[in-house]
Amino acid sequence: MKGRVVALLSLVEVALACGGHPVGHHDNNLPPELQVLGAPSQTLDVKFPISSPPSVVAVHTGEFLKAADTVEAPEADVKPLSTQDLFVFMMVDPDINATSPTYVGLHTMVANLTAHDHAFSTVVAKYIAPEPPAGEAHNYTFLAFHQPRHFSIPAKYAPYVATTPTSPLNRINFPLQQFIADTNLGPVVAANWFKEGDA
Ligand SMILES: *[C@@H]1O[C@H](CO)[C@@H](O)[C@H](O)[C@H]1NC(C)=O
Ligand SMILES: *[C@@H]1O[C@H](CO)[C@@H](O)[C@H](O)[C@H]1NC(C)=O
Ligand SMILES: *[C@@H]1O[C@H](CO)[C@@H](O)[C@H](O)[C@H]1NC(C)=O
Repeated sequence: MKGRVVALLSLVEVALACGGHPVGHHDNNLPPELQVLGAPSQTLDVKFPISSPPSVVAVHTGEFLKAADTVEAPEADVKPLSTQDLFVFMMVDPDINATSPTYVGLHTMVANLTAHDHAFSTVVAKYIAPEPPAGEAHNYTFLAFHQPRHFSIPAKYAPYVATTPTSPLNRINFPLQQFIADTNLGPVVAANWFKEGDA
């Protein structure tokens, strides 16, 4: 028994030594401003659909996307995380508040996300495309959390998730860490990010 465990461990060591690591792994799944949220070991697989001609743009961690790539709501694939669990998915901008980066701009929030039928997911905050100010590039960040039982949006956050004629103004300075604590979202289980704006 002990010998088998040792053999298994050495297989893992060989795999690591050969540079092999789990599919979807990336060392820097969060931009520097949001490292305070932890170090999710999984890279969240996110794609932006493009309507004409029909195609998709995959997000590669830390790389630039063009405004034309990010017009439509991003789609996260949680299958590599779990085939059964429910997830909460967000896209946030940590660069709208330089002094308090975790007071983010909320671009979208989706609950009840599963590996299977996206039709069952609930759009909590409708997608708003990036609008980086001229001369700036922002690090737009995707977060996935395991959805706690009875997850719902506390009333005090309703103004932040709404889509109104003055949006995106109401989405600014969303207190992300407080929201995570208030709703028991727990650690970020997978993340990814891209840059958009003037390099
Ligand atoms: C950044 O967020 C903090 C906390 O809400 C707030 O006090 C401050 O006014 C914000 N700064 C800007 C530039 O919006
Ligand atoms: C975005 O991420 C880069 C690392 O690639 C970092 O140097 C930069 O400070 C971050 N924030 C902004 C606003 O670019
Ligand atoms: C998740 O789906 C359930 C069942 O359809 C629904 O009652 C609940 O409100 C949804 N959660 C959120 C946060 O919208």
